Amino acid sequence: MKTLTLNNKKQIPVLGLGTWRSDKAKVSQVVGKAVLEDGYRHLDCASIYGNEKEIGVALSKILSSGKISRGELFVTSKLWNTEHHPDNVEPACRETLADLQLEYLDLYLVHWGIAFVHGEKLEPIGDDGMVKTEAVSMKETWQAMESLVDKGLVKSIGVANFTVPMIVDLLSYAKVKPVVNQIEIHPYNNQKDLIDYCHKMDIQVTAYSPLGSSGDQNDKPLNNSVVIDIAKAHDKTPAQILIRWAIQRDLIVIPKSTDSSRILENISVEDFSLSKQEMDKINKINKNHRFVDPIEWWGIPYFK
Ligand code: A2P
Repeated sequence: MKTLTLNNKKQIPVLGLGTWRSDKAKVSQVVGKAVLEDGYRHLDCASIYGNEKEIGVALSKILSSGKISRGELFVTSKLWNTEHHPDNVEPACRETLADLQLEYLDLYLVHWGIAFVHGEKLEPIGDDGMVKTEAVSMKETWQAMESLVDKGLVKSIGVANFTVPMIVDLLSYAKVKPVVNQIEIHPYNNQKDLIDYCHKMDIQVTAYSPLGSSGDQNDKPLNNSVVIDIAKAHDKTPAQILIRWAIQRDLIVIPKSTDSSRILENISVEDFSLSKQEMDKINKINKNHRFVDPIEWWGIPYFK
């Protein structure tokens, strides 16, 4: 599979399997098949997804099968918002490593640029409906992330859901540059300016929710007529067009599925390409629409 080079010279496979909302009961079997039968080499995980133990069972089976070595896999996880205090970063990372049954992560991301109070709920909402934040700066958290690299617990570190000003600030003190910013990207939220900025700063960008995520909204990029017409012209599915569009923008893309035929469909995107005109047509359907917006969960207008 095609890889992109990170700013520390390590390689990341451009397509990974997303695991947000992957059912615990299914995810072990799904991950095992995706890696051993369908050729996935990159898994995107997070402690908040609540399924890392089950993914760890699959990873242990995969690695003990002798068919795939640890070095052939790229595994990402993410530090949850309640664990930003420097004292909590390494224990959180070690818990993820234990759950995933791994000795190191290829990539560890700060999941959101916001620290929640530690030790209550994973989403500690106050009486005013707003999440309770903690007085921990990103600088303190990032320095603790950097020490995970020094200790060999993680090969690379990065961020998720960072905006341009947050990256500008991070780069003012980072001794280890973030290798990736993982953000919501699909044709309804194409994120052109943020992607251009990250690429200029030599930060790769990972597209999450590339298919428009999993809620039940009718108006999803998968159902867009421009996308459907292009899919018909290539004899491909709308999902394959969305994934190909992301890859041709030099993005890393992590579609989630627990359905075995869709998992194979989503990785079968290397035998065709979109023309410049097709790329442009899809670029034009942007409407800055997010399917993932923390204001609904935490009462904080994070992206405003
Ligand atoms: P499922 O897991 O049942 O396949 P995203 O990656 O944007 O978060 O989107 C994930 C959602 O898209 C899930 O609801 C997933 O459902 C669905 N999905 C994944 N692959 C495909 C596909 N190839 N065609 C249609 N829907 C898909």
